[in-house]
Amino acid sequence: SLLTVLIVVFSFLSGSIPFGYVIGKLKGVDVRKYGSGNIGATNVSRVLGKKIGLIVLILDALKGAIPVLTVKYAGLPLKFQLMAALFAVLGHCFSPFLGFKGGKGVATGIGAFAVISPVCAGIAVAVFMLVFFITRYVSLSSITAVASYVIAFKFLVSSSDIYIYVALAGFVIIVKHYKNIIRLIRGEEKKYGVKTVS
Ligand code: G3P
Repeated sequence: SLLTVLIVVFSFLSGSIPFGYVIGKLKGVDVRKYGSGNIGATNVSRVLGKKIGLIVLILDALKGAIPVLTVKYAGLPLKFQLMAALFAVLGHCFSPFLGFKGGKGVATGIGAFAVISPVCAGIAVAVFMLVFFITRYVSLSSITAVASYVIAFKFLVSSSDIYIYVALAGFVIIVKHYKNIIRLIRGEEKKYGVKTVS
């Protein structure tokens, strides 16, 4: 329907605004050329410092949350909110402004899916902090946090057909971490904040 098309397009476009890339450029740096090469908050904080990384984290989360909040306060059912969340993540991960490459969708996903279930998001953030505290790998923390949201949603919110939106978003975010996964397996992933000569 027209409504579906509007939600998909608006959410995708919102998600596709590459804040990390834009803020990097404003600072005179193409963040895609440094660190992990990612446009996300983690790599921006690596390349440009924690303060700017935090700004990117907030903006990337907001561009995920805003489309979902819009759909929610328009009084539309959960299915449409989930659609907005999924497409915001897809916009970030496959941004048309960056040749359909993009980021890994963690901040955008947490912003979007926190609106849908603050409880599941809280569980995900707790898992993130626990794994990060133990391992210092942001990527591994992200992957386990995303997986825990997807699992928590199934048990606490819904395992009906709308679950596909959550599972797909989780799948895309995790697959987008494939280079991190390879590095983790090889023991080559960089721990957060640990300076290495490269
Ligand atoms: O949000 C992305 C994070 O999980 C990993 O980022 O830059 O270490 O690949 P990065």
